[in-house]
Amino acid sequence: MKERSNFSSRIGFVLAAAGSAVGLGNIWRFPYLAAKYGGGIFLLVYIILAVTFGFTLMIAEIALGRRTGLSAIGAFRSLNKKFSFLGWLTSIVPMIIFPYYCVIGGWVVKYFASYVAGDGGAAAGNDFFSSFIAQPMQPIFWLCVFIAATAIIVLLGVQKGIEKASKILMPVLVVLSVVVAVYTITMPGAWEGVLYYITPDFSKFSPMTVLAALGQLFYSMSLAMGIMITYGSYMKKESNLEKSVKQIEIFDTGIALVAGLMIVPAVFVFSGGDQSQLQQGPSLMFVTLPKVFESMGTGGLVIGAAFFLLVLFAALTSAISLMETVVSILQDKLHWSRKITCLVVAIGAILIGVPSSLGFGIWENVQILGMSILDFFDFLSNSVLMPIVAFFTCIFVGWVIKTKVISDEVKLSSKFHGEKMFVVMIKYIAPVLIIAILVSSILNATG
Ligand code: PHE
Repeated sequence: MKERSNFSSRIGFVLAAAGSAVGLGNIWRFPYLAAKYGGGIFLLVYIILAVTFGFTLMIAEIALGRRTGLSAIGAFRSLNKKFSFLGWLTSIVPMIIFPYYCVIGGWVVKYFASYVAGDGGAAAGNDFFSSFIAQPMQPIFWLCVFIAATAIIVLLGVQKGIEKASKILMPVLVVLSVVVAVYTITMPGAWEGVLYYITPDFSKFSPMTVLAALGQLFYSMSLAMGIMITYGSYMKKESNLEKSVKQIEIFDTGIALVAGLMIVPAVFVFSGGDQSQLQQGPSLMFVTLPKVFESMGTGGLVIGAAFFLLVLFAALTSAISLMETVVSILQDKLHWSRKITCLVVAIGAILIGVPSSLGFGIWENVQILGMSILDFFDFLSNSVLMPIVAFFTCIFVGWVIKTKVISDEVKLSSKFHGEKMFVVMIKYIAPVLIIAILVSSILNATG
């Protein structure tokens, strides 16, 4: 059998996994949630959950991958045949997410290109976004550009493609986010926005704060979609696993915090302190922020270009991890060559992505459970499948194969400092929290 590819260095692994974790969620959802759920108190809850709940699930997934040297299907199956279903279920998630994630990635490329071409002013126009996504061909063109970029990197392989790209893209992303954040917090009037973002507002604290933080955390760390299992399977046995997980978390949470510093004060100044202007998702990124950049004058166009470049890098490294996960699942299962697999996955993603894209234009009337096609895929993966996968993963590790399998894997490379917490968390606390997320997100969507 061919030897499995691996990351050449621990830092390469950390940057690639952090590249997966840092994505659109950090930028267009985290700042909004923080502002909505009481600023500093949300930040505090989020950080506590990251070092307990997030830490536990991420250790489990990476260790499962490294221990078995396989992607999700094989990883679960090789440890317990009865849990083959969990491997399949996990594998469906990136297959659903990848195509529509690339649709949004294509929008980001389009915006970046507009800013570079000096059209940032036009992007701030009222109907720019809605008329762009409603067109049939243009968004599909940008979707193809984004998928092609992703596919080229994945095709180059784990070391020469993913690791190399992450080593360049992630440091640049950090620098750009700090530059944009410094620019926005030094604008006149921005300080009030900063205070709004970091000051705890206890009156907004409720169990919903915890649930919102949990749901976000889970998505933000790219858990429950087989990604960390796959990346773990490329990790060397001598690399320190626990330390790596901590560094990935610091990276992901750090960028989310900085994203809040760039977005909350900027919107605050722009809207004259009216926080209801701070939305989430595409409307924040593609409608409000271009207006905010425009209001900054000439400097805003440069900051806008820098901003969309950093978003592009964040989306690209996440898309790479999604595609690699799908590719490795197919390769493990079907033993195709990497070239053929990448080609099949890229073409498949375009074909499945097209309906999501058309759902904002000529297929606007196609609704599933009252949602657009893209929103439906998003709902199905994030709100339904991911919590189910995470729940069974906890049961699998905590009660079926038992936590010792994971602990032993972690201890191959270092002491396992968080072991006690890990065991309690994965057996008892995490499953309960996950059920709570599942129930609340389904109620939210249908209610
Ligand atoms: N973790 C990414 C984020 O925060 C989201 C993501 C989703 C990444 C799916 C990869 C795959 O945006």
